[in-house]
Amino acid sequence: MTPDLMEAGAERHARAQGLPVGASTESGGRTAGYGRPAVAGEVDVTHGRILYLEDVSVSFDGFKAINKLSLDIAPGELRCIIGPNGAGKTTMMDIITGKTRPDEGTVYFGSTIDLLRHREAEIAQLGIGRKFQKPTVFEHLTVFENLELALKTDKRVKPSMFFKLDSAQADRLADILQTIHLADSVNRMAGTLSHGQKQWLEIGMLLMQDPKLLLLDEPVAGMTDEETARTAELFLTLKGKHSLMVVEHDMSFIRTISEIVTVLCDGSVLAQGTLDEVQSDERVIEVYLGR
Ligand SMILES: Nc1ncnc2c1ncn2[C@@H]1O[C@H](COP(=O)(O)OP(=O)(O)OP(=O)(O)O)[C@@H](O)[C@H]1O
Ligand SMILES: [Mg+2]
Repeated sequence: MTPDLMEAGAERHARAQGLPVGASTESGGRTAGYGRPAVAGEVDVTHGRILYLEDVSVSFDGFKAINKLSLDIAPGELRCIIGPNGAGKTTMMDIITGKTRPDEGTVYFGSTIDLLRHREAEIAQLGIGRKFQKPTVFEHLTVFENLELALKTDKRVKPSMFFKLDSAQADRLADILQTIHLADSVNRMAGTLSHGQKQWLEIGMLLMQDPKLLLLDEPVAGMTDEETARTAELFLTLKGKHSLMVVEHDMSFIRTISEIVTVLCDGSVLAQGTLDEVQSDERVIEVYLGR
């Protein structure tokens, strides 16, 4: 991370927090937390970013799927990622979650946690939740049991045996049921839910772990228009409390939820800005939107 990038991040964060930017202080205008060691279990976002990738590359059999990719995400941001098939969107998520190791580059969670030093399971524990495209709920369990199970570390133990939610967890479960629009279906078998409801349930299962950052890969693929609209509402509710990175091809969905959109192409960032800005960018039209 270069010093000017760090300054820019600190400024952005100060503005977001309503703090004076570049004010003169003992620490040279930096906020007091600037050099503070991270508290265990917390992500240090004093530099204004929860996720930071710099010059990340990975090749598969000589093919550069990710090529000098750099991007960062602010705490509480809902970032949309678009780009043509094969652009490297899913591979980027694989790298962030420790599923794929890059050949080179830097990947940080906050300013102190080097994700490349952690394994996949540890990264989930650190507070990065990931939703794959296909819903992976437990079809023969109820909605309630699925959410309850999401809290357990040892998934082999039968649900409801030797495990009892404490009152804070029970409150969280009730809140999440409302958030994911499944409060009326709490005792239904997950297998009987619609595709969209299964997707919400899986998002609920991620939320049970209270992730700081959520990565969602094509969350509305296969959903009805009504389910897509409700998912947009859901994501807007999550924004701020969590940071979200959403990969989608559905442009009307992106239009409803997006602030900053990053366009990925050939493994790196082609353009970034509001959806209107990127949609009017000639290079983006050529490689993606104009197809
Ligand atoms: N494990 C792997 N081994 C070999 N090639 C891979 C692997 N993972 C990804 N690739 C290749 O890397 C490129 C990027 O794939 P990726 O799945 O990240 O694209 P994407 O942007 O998610 O596309 P889509 O929009 O179709 O989901 C593709 O050419 C893909 O074939
Ligand atoms: Mg993909």
